[in-house]
Amino acid sequence: MPAVHLLDPAHVDALSCVHATHSAVDLNTAEHGDAVGRMAQHLSALMGSSPEEAEAIGIAARLHDVGKISIPHAILHKPGPLTVEERHIVQRHPEAGAKILQTAKFPLMKLASQIALEHHEHADGTGYPYGLRGDAVSMPGQIVALCDVFDALRRERSYKPGMSHEAACDVLSYGDDRMTPDIFDERVLDAFLRNQKHMAEVFEGTTAPL
Ligand SMILES: [Fe+2]
Ligand SMILES: [Fe+2]
Repeated sequence: MPAVHLLDPAHVDALSCVHATHSAVDLNTAEHGDAVGRMAQHLSALMGSSPEEAEAIGIAARLHDVGKISIPHAILHKPGPLTVEERHIVQRHPEAGAKILQTAKFPLMKLASQIALEHHEHADGTGYPYGLRGDAVSMPGQIVALCDVFDALRRERSYKPGMSHEAACDVLSYGDDRMTPDIFDERVLDAFLRNQKHMAEVFEGTTAPL
């Protein structure tokens, strides 16, 4: 049997179809996915991934929130704070996304499924759905977890303004009233902060694709 290539064009197309489906029902989340995908690709490359691996991580990372497709619209787009019950429903999206993406078995889809499942895990064990700690979370999962937080800080939402690049980097470095830097893998955080000027351009979409 011929070896299955991580970036087999048919597999890349299949992921693009899933992403386009998600975009059609929730453009905001899909745009967030695009930015996280761009940042995850660049950060992976900066951390030493091969160009092929970095591209695969970027493509897979675009789908990290695809499980939000299963959250009722009234909860996902609620302008005010969520109740405890609503927060629990939202916190099911990593497993929901992994389940959607597990329906195909090729390597790029498996990578996307793993990233979807792990992107809210924290290096210090305080994340969800499993409270995994340290290297129990894959490196692509750790990379996407940081890019996800950074994008959420920078992005304007109906319930909050977007932060400047500098303010968002300060939160990653020193924490705020909601998080500490311990939630991130040290290697990932260090690589992001060392290359923060470049990562600002990647977030803005002003860097040439790798
Ligand atoms: Fe998420
Ligand atoms: Fe996200």
